[in-house]
Amino acid sequence: MQRAPRSWKPIALRGSFSVQEESLSVPSQAMSTEIPQRQHSEEELRSACERYDQEHLLRHWDDLDEDGRSQLADQIRAVDLDHVQALGRILERNGQAEGGHFEPPEVFPLERDRAQQERAREAVAAGEEILARGAVGFLLVAGGQASRLGYDGPKGAFPVGPVSGRSLFEFHARRLLATARRYGTRTPFYVMTSPTNDGATRRFFEQNEHFGLPAEDVFFFTQSMLPALDETGRVMMSAPDALFLAPDGHGGVLPALRDSGWLADALERGLEHLSYFQVDNPLVRPTDPLFIGLHALAGAGMSSKVVSKSDPDEKVGVLGKVDGRLGCIEYSDLPADLRDARDENGSLLFRAGNVAVHVLRTEFVDEITRDGLKLPWHVARKKIRTIDEGGRETECTGFKFEAFVFDALGFSTDCVTLEVAREREFSPVKNADGGDSPETARRSLCDLHASWARAAGLELPPAGEDGVVCVEVDPLLADTADDLAAAEPRLIRNENGLLYE
Ligand code: UTP
Repeated sequence: MQRAPRSWKPIALRGSFSVQEESLSVPSQAMSTEIPQRQHSEEELRSACERYDQEHLLRHWDDLDEDGRSQLADQIRAVDLDHVQALGRILERNGQAEGGHFEPPEVFPLERDRAQQERAREAVAAGEEILARGAVGFLLVAGGQASRLGYDGPKGAFPVGPVSGRSLFEFHARRLLATARRYGTRTPFYVMTSPTNDGATRRFFEQNEHFGLPAEDVFFFTQSMLPALDETGRVMMSAPDALFLAPDGHGGVLPALRDSGWLADALERGLEHLSYFQVDNPLVRPTDPLFIGLHALAGAGMSSKVVSKSDPDEKVGVLGKVDGRLGCIEYSDLPADLRDARDENGSLLFRAGNVAVHVLRTEFVDEITRDGLKLPWHVARKKIRTIDEGGRETECTGFKFEAFVFDALGFSTDCVTLEVAREREFSPVKNADGGDSPETARRSLCDLHASWARAAGLELPPAGEDGVVCVEVDPLLADTADDLAAAEPRLIRNENGLLYE
C-alpha cells in the first residue's frame, strides 16, 4: 500500500477550508467519550484551563451545584487540550489553503463498450462469489446530527417508505436480510452512532427486533465528539456546566471502528471488505455485486460510486485527483474554467458526483488506522447556540471540525470509481423540504419501483395529483427490476398506495 506523503495540500473545502495537520497526530479519540472516574480538584482544572487560554470554561463555576461542577470537570478532562490548541491554529491559518493540480478520475462508466461489458460480467461473478462466502461486512454511518432535516430522533428512524412508512434503518436492514437469505450467509452490520443518538438508535433497533436481522450480527459503536471553537480558538459552551460538543464527522468512522474493537472483530470473522454507506439514502445498494466485484478485482484499498453531474452549477462535490491523489473536490474549490470544461463527447470533465458510497478492503482500514489516522480537518462556520458572559443563552458564529471519509481515498491505490444512475441509487434525505428532502426521496422511490412494477406487468395505482404513482417494493423482495419480475409478490393496499412484498 502506498502511504500518503506527509505534506498534503488540502483537497476539500466545505464552504470554508480544510487543513491537514502536518505536525499533529490526530488522536483517534480527540474527545474521549468515557468520563474519567478520578476525582477532580478545582485547582488542577484551573491551571489546565489557564495553560491553554481556556479560563472562561470555569467562569460560572461558583454558581454551579455539585452535579454541574462534576459534569463540567469531567467534560474538560475528557477533551485533549493540546489537540484543541492545534485546531485553533487551523483557524488562524484560515484562507491559506490552496488547491493544486486537478484531474478527473478514471471512471467505470454507465454506458459501457464491449470490453467494459465483459469486465462488468466478470465483476458481478466475482462480487457474487465474495458475497456468497460471507466475506463482506456492512458499515453504516449514522452519527450525524440531522440538523437540516430537524427530525426529533435519529435520522435512521425517519419514516421514508412512501406506502409502508418504513424507516431508513429498516430499508437498509431489509437489504442486508435479503442478501443473507439469498446466499445463506451472515451479514455483520456495524452501525456508527454518536454519543448523542446512541441510546435512541439502539432502542429503535431493539423495539423493531433488529428488523429481522439476528441481534448478534448488529454491532453499535460511537464516534468521537469535538468541541466547537470561537474565532479566537476558545472552546464554546452550550450551558454554564457543559461544553458545546459535536460529532467529529463521518471520517471519524475509521478510527472509531478500530478503537471500538469491531475492526478486529471484522478481521477475525474473515471479512475481506467493508461496504460503507450513509443512513440518509433510501436507494443505496450496499450489497451490489458489481461494485464489490470491480473493487476486489482491481485490488483497491477503497472504491467509490459516483453519479454523473450534468449541470456545472450543481453544488455537489466531485471525485477527482489533486496533485495525483484521489479525493473529493468541493464545488467551491473547483476553478470555474475546470467546472465548466467538457470532454470530447461534450460531457463535463469533472462530473463524478460523490454519493458517499464506498467499499473498503478491511486490511486497508487496518493499515491506515494502525498508527493513528491523519485525515485533514474540514472546518465549517456555523451559527452555534451558546452562552454569553452572564451565562444566558445566545447564538453566535463558531467553528465545527469534521473529518470526511472520502479523504481516506488518498491513501489507497487502484481505486475504482463506478458511475451509477442517480435515479436508481441516490436520493438522500438531507433537508426538511426542497431538494434532497423526504418529498424528493418519496418521489424517487415511487418512480423507481413503479418502473419495476410496470416492467414486471404488475398492477399500478393511478398517479396522484403530484404525478407520483405511489408504489413501493420491499427491499427484501427485490433489489432490481429483474428480481421483481422473477418474484411472486404479495400485494398490500393502503391509503397511501400499493406495496409489493
Ligand atoms: P451529513 O453530512 O448529511 O450530516 O451526513 P448530518 O449530520 O446527517 O446532517 P446535518 O448536516 O446536521 O443536516 C452524511 C452521513 O454521515 C453521517 C450522517 O449520519 C449521515 O449518514 N455522519 C455525519 C456521521 O455519522 N457522523 C458525523 O459526524 C457526520
